[in-house]
Amino acid sequence: MDTLTSAVTLREKGLDITLPDGRTSYFNYYWLRDNCPTSFDSETRERTFDIFHLEQPPRPQSVALEGEALVIAWQRENHVSHLPIPMLQTFADEGRRHDPAALPRAPWYGDHFPAIQRFSQPMLLSDPQKVAAWIRAMLVEGIAIITDMPDSDEGLTETARLIGQVRPTYFGQYFDVRTHIEPTNLAYTAKALELHTDTPAEEVAPGVQFLHCRANTVEGGDSLFLDGVAVAEDLRREDPEAFRLLSEIDIPFYCEHDTYDMRSRQRVIELDETGAVSGVTISQHMADVFDLPQKLLDDYYPAFCRFGRMLQEERYVMHFRMRAGECLTFDNHRVVHGRAAYSASSGERYLRGCYTDRAEMRSSYRALVSEGRFKA
Ligand SMILES: [Fe+2]
Repeated sequence: MDTLTSAVTLREKGLDITLPDGRTSYFNYYWLRDNCPTSFDSETRERTFDIFHLEQPPRPQSVALEGEALVIAWQRENHVSHLPIPMLQTFADEGRRHDPAALPRAPWYGDHFPAIQRFSQPMLLSDPQKVAAWIRAMLVEGIAIITDMPDSDEGLTETARLIGQVRPTYFGQYFDVRTHIEPTNLAYTAKALELHTDTPAEEVAPGVQFLHCRANTVEGGDSLFLDGVAVAEDLRREDPEAFRLLSEIDIPFYCEHDTYDMRSRQRVIELDETGAVSGVTISQHMADVFDLPQKLLDDYYPAFCRFGRMLQEERYVMHFRMRAGECLTFDNHRVVHGRAAYSASSGERYLRGCYTDRAEMRSSYRALVSEGRFKA
């Protein structure tokens, strides 16, 4: 039974509506009933309508266009839905809710250091719009520098809390990068630290890393940072088959000592739902024995090594010296980092670090920049 109104055609399981842009879009009756604005509680902001309790599939009794709303009176229910046309337009256009945090990534290269966006910590504490700008830099470029940090443990915590909760790893809530007497990790020595992303042996490695430089008077110890997205996108162009292997095949990572034996499988190149590179996972010191079919390794190893060599090319790597009072913040799934060796007896080098997560950072950004569905 198809019923024609001026702009709406009722079908068996849904309706076609001609929206203001002139295009006709189809909407399912369950979807229209479930997403009636009354389904959402304005106080808790949660969905309170229970689609499961409907005894019959939802069907319209009558449909009308009234101003900016599609008005549906439902059969067998004493209920009328007023669905805003702009909401229908959004889902017809994008197929999903608009996400202000879904910003395109901008690749960067070895000359990027002077252009890294910098934010003063006291300014961030006092101005939410500065926090939004900082997170925007993190979403687009994956890296930012916080300046004027207090020389205290609390300074790092209060900075991280602007983005999200401090996210522990099996090393604890925080980590101290300086020379340890009995190191469990290459970072805790004065040796060179090869280019890596942190804790790939975790099922989900932490998303955002904070490195607060408290002291750096040693000879050497320059920081090395590069954009994994830039390198991986170049690999896609230069060697599509290597890119395919690295973005489709999981390899094992591990981190093992007296009281822990962490293991995971990760893809070296991470793609988002659109197929764009959203990150990389790389760590030679935490790569486990590759337990892939040996014939597959005939192809995988050359691809892995080609990418590993690209990561070290000078065109990608920023070299700089961290200064006391600065805190580097970066996407741990995107920004590959390392350190040159230093002379432990030449001075003091102390970085205190912690993590938060990517999803929470995006949540904070949306809350800062968006009107949302429920704000007055
Ligand atoms: Fe690291």
